[in-house]
Amino acid sequence: MAAVSNAGGLGSFGAHRLSPSAILETAAAIRKLTTRPFALNLWVSNHDQGGAHPSGEALMRMHGSLQRYFQELGIAVPPLPEKKAVYDFEEQARAVIEARPAVFSFVFGIPSREIVGSCKRLGIILAGTATTVDEAVALEQGGADAVIASGMEAGGHRPSFLDAAEDSLEGTMSLVPQCARAIGIPVIAAGGIADARGVVAALNLGAQAAQLGTAFLACNESGAPALHREILLNGTVHRTALSRVFTGRLARAVRNRLQDELRAAPLLPYPAQLWAMTPLHEVALKQGRVDLMSVWSGQSSSLLQWRSVDSLMAALD
Ligand SMILES: Cc1cc2nc3c(=O)[nH]c(=O)nc-3n(C[C@H](O)[C@H](O)[C@H](O)COP(=O)(O)O)c2cc1C
Repeated sequence: MAAVSNAGGLGSFGAHRLSPSAILETAAAIRKLTTRPFALNLWVSNHDQGGAHPSGEALMRMHGSLQRYFQELGIAVPPLPEKKAVYDFEEQARAVIEARPAVFSFVFGIPSREIVGSCKRLGIILAGTATTVDEAVALEQGGADAVIASGMEAGGHRPSFLDAAEDSLEGTMSLVPQCARAIGIPVIAAGGIADARGVVAALNLGAQAAQLGTAFLACNESGAPALHREILLNGTVHRTALSRVFTGRLARAVRNRLQDELRAAPLLPYPAQLWAMTPLHEVALKQGRVDLMSVWSGQSSSLLQWRSVDSLMAALD
């Protein structure tokens, strides 16, 4: 992400799985890589009811339903996945404020008045994410300085917070101009933007800027596995799908067999479902089994052709 800032964009680091101390260390590490502005990003709601402390029985049931896939991959069923730490958003947010990035961006909700007030006092710009016009209005009322209007074309999670994600599936083309009309703060368009034409379209729709995710995920500098980047760049991804199968929250990935076969399976709430799926994902990734892993992607990845952040940024100009 420092490469994005160094190339003139606003690099953004997703810190929602980090402890407060790790957030501070990460910000210090980023500052060694860039002197330019960057954003730190958190999830206001980072677990669903029962998702942070699933019963061993529930985990075991989900784990058991994956047994046939482990058999197919030719490995013994691994031990029950570990329950990982889920950090308190308020404590994470205090660490972000202490780190003082230029921008504190967030998804899945609106931070408290206290957090918003601290950011305002320190001049940290607050950018909240909306999947509907109602969410954009709520973010403006809650003190956001800018709204990221995230259309359902986007890769990764649907960060809805007022209605169910399934009932908040506006496309970028529709969402951006309606948000731009409904609120008085800048709108940043996100979802399905993969090249300069997409950026121009976003600006024409009333956005002040564009946010790209999948295109950067495909670059060499990203932390994504080589196989994942190769799939995004080989021009063949024409079907993605929204599913709760991989994490328990609705998210867009390359459509595959796992999404289809587990469509009706009882899933765990976020992040327990993610913990249950991780061992399978890791083995499938090692074996190159794209049918059994999560390959996060927005709808426009077949347009991607830029392998370095610099070449991508130059192509967006
Ligand atoms: C793998 C992946 C992880 C993401 N994680 C986050 C996140 O933690 N926080 C966030 O605000 N947005 C996250 N996003 C969304 C991006 O910031 C961006 O809005 C989105 O990817 C734009 O749509 P696109 O994928 O079509 O470019 C993620 C996207 C992807 C593909």
